[in-house]
Amino acid sequence: MNQLILGDCLEVMRKMDSESIDLIYLDPPFFSNRNYEVIWGDKGEVRSFEDRWSGGIDHYIAWLKERVAEMHRLLKPTGSIYLHCDWHANAYIKVYILDKLFGPNNFRNEIIWYYKRWTNVSKQFQNMHDTIFWYTKSNNYSFNKNGHEPSESQKKKFDKGWDQNVVKGKNGEKITQYIIYNKEKFEKNCKQLPNARLVFRETEDLKVAPPDVLEIPIINSQAFERIGYPTQKPEELLQKIIFTTSNEGDTILDPFVGGGTTVVVADKLNRNWIGIDQSVQAIKVSEMRIDKEQGLYSKPFYLQLHKYDYDTLRNKEAFEFESWIINQFGGIPNSRKGGDKGFDGKMKDGTPIQVKRSDNIGINVIKNFLSSCQINEPQLFEKKKSTQEPIGYIIAFTFGRGAVQEVAKIKNEMGVTIELITVDKIVPIAKKPQIKISLIDKGSDSKDLHEIIFTAVAESSAGIEMYAWDWDYEEDKPFKAEVILDKNGTQTMKFKPGNHTIAVKVVDNDGLEAIEIIKLKVNRELIRE
Ligand SMILES: C[S@@+](CC[C@H](N)C(=O)[O-])C[C@H]1O[C@@H](n2cnc3c(N)ncnc32)[C@H](O)[C@@H]1O
Repeated sequence: MNQLILGDCLEVMRKMDSESIDLIYLDPPFFSNRNYEVIWGDKGEVRSFEDRWSGGIDHYIAWLKERVAEMHRLLKPTGSIYLHCDWHANAYIKVYILDKLFGPNNFRNEIIWYYKRWTNVSKQFQNMHDTIFWYTKSNNYSFNKNGHEPSESQKKKFDKGWDQNVVKGKNGEKITQYIIYNKEKFEKNCKQLPNARLVFRETEDLKVAPPDVLEIPIINSQAFERIGYPTQKPEELLQKIIFTTSNEGDTILDPFVGGGTTVVVADKLNRNWIGIDQSVQAIKVSEMRIDKEQGLYSKPFYLQLHKYDYDTLRNKEAFEFESWIINQFGGIPNSRKGGDKGFDGKMKDGTPIQVKRSDNIGINVIKNFLSSCQINEPQLFEKKKSTQEPIGYIIAFTFGRGAVQEVAKIKNEMGVTIELITVDKIVPIAKKPQIKISLIDKGSDSKDLHEIIFTAVAESSAGIEMYAWDWDYEEDKPFKAEVILDKNGTQTMKFKPGNHTIAVKVVDNDGLEAIEIIKLKVNRELIRE
C-alpha cells in the first residue's frame, strides 16, 4: 500500500525489505548552508528544514552516504536511483558516494535541470541549473525510450502527417524531401513538389531518448502547482524521470519527500509510492496534496506519524484500520476483506490476530476467538498451549471487565493464553488540536461579491504546525485543500450570493489534525449558520 512516513529516512529505510524498490528519487538538503525557513506566526519564528553542516562537507557527505547506502540495499537489481543536487556538493556526491556505492560502470547520466531564474549576481554567471545524477543497480534496468513525450512542434508534424525540408542531392543540387508519418494524410493533403524525395517514418521511430538537459520552469510564486513548500520541484521534472525509467505498478521511493511532488506524480502515473520526511509539515502537506489530486478516486494510503488521535483512528475505514494497526503491531494483515475465519491477520509465526475498532470489547468476542483458534488452527493452538505462549492476540481501543475476566478464566481452566492489546500500547495516542474560526464581514462590492476575513485560532499541547482551507467543502467527500500550507491561519475570500460550506483544517506539531466546518448564507447580509 502507498505510504507517507514521518521520520529520519535512515531509520525508516532500515525497517524496509531489501530489493523492494524499483526507482528512488532523492532531493536531500543541498549542503547550501542555509535554513529553509518559513516565517511562522507573529513572533517571526523560523521553521521548515535545516541545511547547515557544522562539520563541513565531510560531515554532509558522511550523513548522505549512510542514507544512500541504505537506498542501494532497498533497490531491486533492475532499479534506478536519481540524486538531485547542485554545485554546492555535486562533485563530492558523485565521487565519494555514487561511484563508491553503485560503481562508476552503473553511472548512466548527469541530467541538467535548466531553469531561468535571474538573480542580481554581478561578477559571475547566473546559476540556472541543478544536477541530477542517474545511476542503476546493474546494467539490466528499464528504460522507456518513449518516455520522452514528443515536443509540441513534433506533435504538430505527426498530426499533419508529414514534414518537409530541403536536402542536398548527389551533385549538390537542392532537393525537396518529404518525411511522411501518415501516408493517407500526405497523399490527400500535400501538394507535392515535382522530383521530391519521399521518406516514410513510423512516429515511434521519432521518439528518441530524452536529452540530458531538461529545460523546465522553476515553481515561481504564480505557478498553479505551487503549494508554498520551500524548494518544491516541478511535477514535469518528476514525470520525465518516473515515466522514462519505471513502469506502471512499480514502486517509487522518495526518502526526502518534502512537498510531495514525487508521490503525486507517481500516483498519477499508476506507480506505487513511499514518501518519507522528518518534518510533520512535509508529511501533512504531501497528504493533503495527494487527497486533493485524487479527489473522489482516492486510493487508501498509510500515513505513519509518531502520534495519533482517537477520532482519526476511529473514523478510518475498518479494513484500512485493521491492516494499519496490525502493521504497526508488527504483524501481517490479511490482503483481502472477509472470509477470514475471524482473523484479521497473523504474526510472522502464524499466531492469529483479531482487531476490533471499538471500545469495551465484551465476553462473546473472547469466546468466539477462542473457538475459532481451536477449530481453524488446531496444531498451532496445541503447540502454543504447550509452550505457554499466546494462542492469539485481540487488539481493541478498550476491553470490558467481562472480557478481561473471561481471558483469566480460560487461562486458569485451560492453561491457554489470549493476549488483549489496547491500541495505545501499539501507537502513542494524543489529544488532537482544538480550533475556532472568527469572521469579519467586509460587505459586498459592486459585483455583489461579499468579502470575508477568516481568522483561525487553534490550540494544542504540541503547538500548531499549519492550517489548510477548502472553500467549497462537500461533507460526504474528501477534504480538498485549495490553500494547503497556511502558516498564519488568516485568509480573505470573496463569495458570490448563495450558500457556501467552508472547511478549515489545523495540524499540530505531532501531525494531529482537527477540522472546523463553516456554513454561510451570503446575501445582502452575511448569515453564519
Ligand atoms: C529539498 S527538500 C525536498 C523537496 C521536494 N523534492 C519537493 O518537491 O517538495 C528536502 C526535504 O528533506 C527533508 N529532510 C531533511 N533531512 C531528512 C532526513 N534525515 N530524513 C527525512 N527527511 C529529511 C526536509 O524536511 C525537506 O522536506
